[in-house]
Amino acid sequence: MIKAVRGTRDLLPPDSDLWNRVEGKVRNLFARYNYHEIRTPVFEDTSLFSRSVGEETDIVSKEMFTWEDRARAQSEKAQSLTLRPENTAGVVRAYIEHGLYKTGTLQKLYYIGPQFRRERPQKGRYRQFYQIGAEIIGPPSAGSESPARDAEVLEMLATLLDEVGLKGWQLQLNSVGCAEDRARYNKALREALQPVVHQMCADCQRRAETNPLRVLDCKVPEDQPIIEKLPKIGEYLDEPCRQHFAAVRAMLDAVGVPHSINERMVRGLDYYTRTTFEFTHGGLGAQSAVLGGGRYDGLSESLEGPKAPGIGFAIGEDRLVLALQSQGEPPRESVQAYIAPLGAGMGLHALNLARELRRAGVTADLGDESFRLKRSFELAEKAGAKYIVIVGENEVASGQFAVKDLSSGEQVSVPRAELTRQLAK
Ligand code: HAM
Repeated sequence: MIKAVRGTRDLLPPDSDLWNRVEGKVRNLFARYNYHEIRTPVFEDTSLFSRSVGEETDIVSKEMFTWEDRARAQSEKAQSLTLRPENTAGVVRAYIEHGLYKTGTLQKLYYIGPQFRRERPQKGRYRQFYQIGAEIIGPPSAGSESPARDAEVLEMLATLLDEVGLKGWQLQLNSVGCAEDRARYNKALREALQPVVHQMCADCQRRAETNPLRVLDCKVPEDQPIIEKLPKIGEYLDEPCRQHFAAVRAMLDAVGVPHSINERMVRGLDYYTRTTFEFTHGGLGAQSAVLGGGRYDGLSESLEGPKAPGIGFAIGEDRLVLALQSQGEPPRESVQAYIAPLGAGMGLHALNLARELRRAGVTADLGDESFRLKRSFELAEKAGAKYIVIVGENEVASGQFAVKDLSSGEQVSVPRAELTRQLAK
């Protein structure tokens, strides 16, 4: 038997109902914050990711699904392609490619879609997973560099998590400074690593040379005591970066978004500058980050675009749904009415009633005239219906229909013309 590939999974009802409910609420929220959807391809030129996310990151060095795409015609060139491991790079590529900067305004773009990383699968970690993300990007004259953007994004996320019903989330913040701060920090890290690096894993030994910041992503338990003692990025921020970070925090305090500082959080992607953040949730176990993001003021330029500072985030939708399930979120909205035709010829009447109800916005399920009464009741219960309406010869002849509340057992007789209004309540 052929099975779904390791690290991928099928989303089935009723779980898919919860996914859709989350996406519906999120789209509604994005509209209120004036974000608009962008859909970029699920595969891109491999160099897009190596240049933005960074050669030495786990994502690029170990986790990408990459293949050599052969030329199929003389007019084509062979090309290395990669399934997107994240979507910020694709959005910034599109921003540059389509000249979105020419409007001179901020672009507020959101996306919902699959991403691919060849990680070791476990709960909350998949090889195909889904992100709900957004990016604000634009020229500095449009306010893209301002700490107000950071605060606005973080306030939106707090509202988003509240609106989808997640309880007990925590926001962790840090600043990783600008390119110059990072150069000084990398130098300090290199010096601090020099006497100890021979005791560390092979990846750390290589990264200590090529990109010391990435040593902080190491998960090898034996390396952790050494990493603990390394200098922290906060000590290397210049005055403008310090002030930017202080302004973000002051604004979060002003709008009442609780947060804490995590000086160890540098995030596993190279493009970040200044503010970085993660929201975590206790219901997730080891993979506790529901979402992550940050500022990327130099990303556009590193992809040969204009100066276009930006900030964004991506929610791990799989993890958000897991966290909601861990707090007992019901998977599915209940069916309001189960319409049970009883006896030959009644299917037609039942179909008409169901049509009327559904057009009026009522969720209705329809039985079959061949079912006995007992079977109809069983199926109505299974469907989780609130009410059952029997459509039999007597009902049709008299124009009076019995509407039974399946949880209380209460039954009322309703005239045909009143049924839809009654059930739409
Ligand atoms: P990231 O931290 O790599 O950031 O991923 C964001 C979120 O995606 C994580 O917090 C997690 O919830 C989810 N996630 C990542 N990998 C997996 C996986 N293998 N299985 C399930 N969920 C996963 C980014 O991707 C950046 N592009 C975010 C960003 C947008 N920064 C600025 N703009």
